[in-house]
Amino acid sequence: MPVISVPHDFNEEDLYVDLRSIFGHALFLKCEGFNFAGSIKLKAATEMVETAERDGLLTPDSILVESSSGNLGVALSTIAASKGYRFLCVTDSRCNLSTRMIMEALGSQVHIIAGQEANGGFLGARIEYVRTLCASDERYVWLSQYTNPSNWKAHYRKTAPEIARQFPELDVLFLGTGTAGTLMGCARYFREWHRPVRIIALDSVGSVAFGGTPGRRMIPGLGMSMRPPLLDESYVDEVIRVEEADTIRACHRLARRGFLFGGSTGTVVSGAMGWLARHDDRELTAVALAPDLGERYLDTIYQTNWLHDLYGEDVLKSDEVPAGPWAAASPTPPARWGRRLDLTNGDHHGTQRPQFQDRRTC
Ligand SMILES: Cc1ncc(COP(=O)(O)O)c(C=O)c1O
Repeated sequence: MPVISVPHDFNEEDLYVDLRSIFGHALFLKCEGFNFAGSIKLKAATEMVETAERDGLLTPDSILVESSSGNLGVALSTIAASKGYRFLCVTDSRCNLSTRMIMEALGSQVHIIAGQEANGGFLGARIEYVRTLCASDERYVWLSQYTNPSNWKAHYRKTAPEIARQFPELDVLFLGTGTAGTLMGCARYFREWHRPVRIIALDSVGSVAFGGTPGRRMIPGLGMSMRPPLLDESYVDEVIRVEEADTIRACHRLARRGFLFGGSTGTVVSGAMGWLARHDDRELTAVALAPDLGERYLDTIYQTNWLHDLYGEDVLKSDEVPAGPWAAASPTPPARWGRRLDLTNGDHHGTQRPQFQDRRTC
């Protein structure tokens, strides 16, 4: 029986959903939404704050500041409330209303950046705002999830060993990419493991995390409007980009079976099912990560008007059994373990790498 006195001391580590009966391919979905921050970001937030405390960067009058599309903001709000720090989250207009309200309920301040950039993102403006704040008052401490090694180390120390313990025969791991902390922590761990694991990164069409053409993205959490500074592509075997309409179809298909997950889980599951349908998966042990649950997305991906306005009335036309890339695919010979980037859209050379300093305090 877990008994805790601080919220970040509890996380459900060992819950998986077997998706075979829902999608027709065996995929074990690791559920990361069962903790007091409601997402996988609690791990990164805890590791970053505790490292900063050990390094003497955080003092009782520090004000934490971070740019987040929501989940890291909630995780830092949870920890800040528990430890008595002030926290200011800089987010943007794509942040879900409920996520914003949770942060405020936990005592954090939320600043929303409204102006979208030419590349369709908000990240540059969010970071610029954080930098300006930090320059104005030395009490601000920016942990910088985009560059902070504690972000990926959290997953190297926790997420990956949790999976390894339960799946000693793991073959393929599907991971969504935001800052790439989850991806890099797991990929580094499994590179050193006793058997090869194929690491497949999922990204949204319109994200430029792995290059390609920027485009509209409305679902927060996954995807980036710049290349993630933590990303080292030599650890990634394949990249799959998923259309947001397919993300939505996968989310609704799961919801119709009683599993209400967040948007990025739809991306990961849709991309993974497409991959499994293209390969002979009979002998494969495949795991994917579900970063959060669905309540925070009730006013977006589970809201009919929002869906119709953005994706058209047909997006869920076949609502009982929504179509997705997994539906029409036929098996091909077993995957070979050669390293290869399989981009569905764009290439690796068209994107400028932004100048991004590793600046953890300001
Ligand atoms: C909702 C959500 N939270 C967290 C993550 C993890 O992102 P990262 O560790 O790449 O920042 C993702 C990525 O899929 C996500 O979608």
